[in-house]
Amino acid sequence: MNSLTNLLGWVDARFPLTKLWKEHLSEYYAPKNFNFWYFFGSLALLVLVIQIVSGIFLTMHYKPDAKLAFYSVEYIMRDVPWGWLIRYIHSTGASMFFVVVYLHMFRGLMYGSYRKPRELIWIFGMCIYLALMAEAFMGYLLPWGQMSYWGAQVIVNLFSAVPFVGPDLSLWIRGDYVISDATLNRFFAFHVAAIPLVLVGLVVAHIIALHEVGSNNPDGVEIKKNKDPVTHIPLDGIPFHPYYTVKDIVGVVVFLMVFSAIVFFSPDLGGYFIEDNNFFPADPLKTPPHIAPVWYFTPFYAVLRAVPPMFGSQFPGVIAMGVAVMIICFLPWLDRSPVKSIRYRGTIYKTALALFVISFFGLGWLGMLPVTPLFTLLSQILTTVYLGFFLLMPWYTKIDKCKPEPERVTG
Ligand code: HEM
Repeated sequence: MNSLTNLLGWVDARFPLTKLWKEHLSEYYAPKNFNFWYFFGSLALLVLVIQIVSGIFLTMHYKPDAKLAFYSVEYIMRDVPWGWLIRYIHSTGASMFFVVVYLHMFRGLMYGSYRKPRELIWIFGMCIYLALMAEAFMGYLLPWGQMSYWGAQVIVNLFSAVPFVGPDLSLWIRGDYVISDATLNRFFAFHVAAIPLVLVGLVVAHIIALHEVGSNNPDGVEIKKNKDPVTHIPLDGIPFHPYYTVKDIVGVVVFLMVFSAIVFFSPDLGGYFIEDNNFFPADPLKTPPHIAPVWYFTPFYAVLRAVPPMFGSQFPGVIAMGVAVMIICFLPWLDRSPVKSIRYRGTIYKTALALFVISFFGLGWLGMLPVTPLFTLLSQILTTVYLGFFLLMPWYTKIDKCKPEPERVTG
């Protein structure tokens, strides 16, 4: 024991190990009233690690070559010892990443976690979300199945709708006139090296920003306003370690149960996690009759298809889709409510949030279906509701009749 203490002293004299441990864990005071919704930040960290580790093992056997990619994945599935497990962990992890991140973001909407002074946490979060979308999109091309190929074809072609530079832009992204070996190679480089580095850096920034201002909580009350006069510790705060490290283990156990149930019993989740068409090798001469992205992109895909082309150009739809994603960044400045948490908000915000959830799920469902006049009309209505939630927010959060926020957290 003594030698361990000595070793720690030796390290501490050269690197702030104990200081970091205290600042971020044993003396980081988090509000004592965290609930179920606060599991998803640590779960997102867990999934990030799962994806990086399983991804490294996949890279050992995967071949980023248009002639070999599909068969190298089949080789991983059939011949590499435990390869099937690693691959299904990685493909399930991709979808579960979005499940966890969407729930994590929704917590922010419920408790106003993006409000002052947490705007930068939110902005870093949105950058993470964008990076995650790019990571998932490029990763999906790698197995070089029919959906990989045609999904990428559709999405990269959207860039050619940009006025003036569009065609050159999409050519530049693909490195060819169609999705090809050149595209596969660059998507591989981005997927395994560039974007993961950016993601990890952003997650570090996200957590540094969080620990600078302190966590919000289900009451939306700032615990730093009520500190012990002697110790200066927030009266409603408890040390993150051991209280929340132990509590988070419960979330991890439940999450891993769900995760393994999917990996072992239904790894493609009926076509939602891996589309059926992706079990066929990419064929540039055979367009599948129905191309839809994976579920986590379908709400935005539905927005894209809801907006009709203008002068034969899909550009308005592309803009609408971009706006639908980017508008989330502005929440800290759109929300004018005097309170943060949904617990103290009035009926208007609660109704608006419920409508927003319905529009998001509705668009997600419509984005998976083939186009019909009825579905297009429904997508247009739901796109209006979705955008209305954000654009009308400065107005309805101001007139909403809120309850007074308590002085201290309510437990
Ligand atoms: C790889 C993805 C992400 C990771 C690993 C991550 C990690 C974390 C962790 C560990 C926390 C503290 C625990 C918690 O409050 O749940 C947190 C808080 C937070 N995250 Fe994330 N996050 C990610 C993505 C996002 C995204 C996409 C957004 C929103 C656009 C976001 C917004 C927030 C906010 C606002 C907080 C503060 C919550 C509060 O204090 O109530 N995060 N994040």
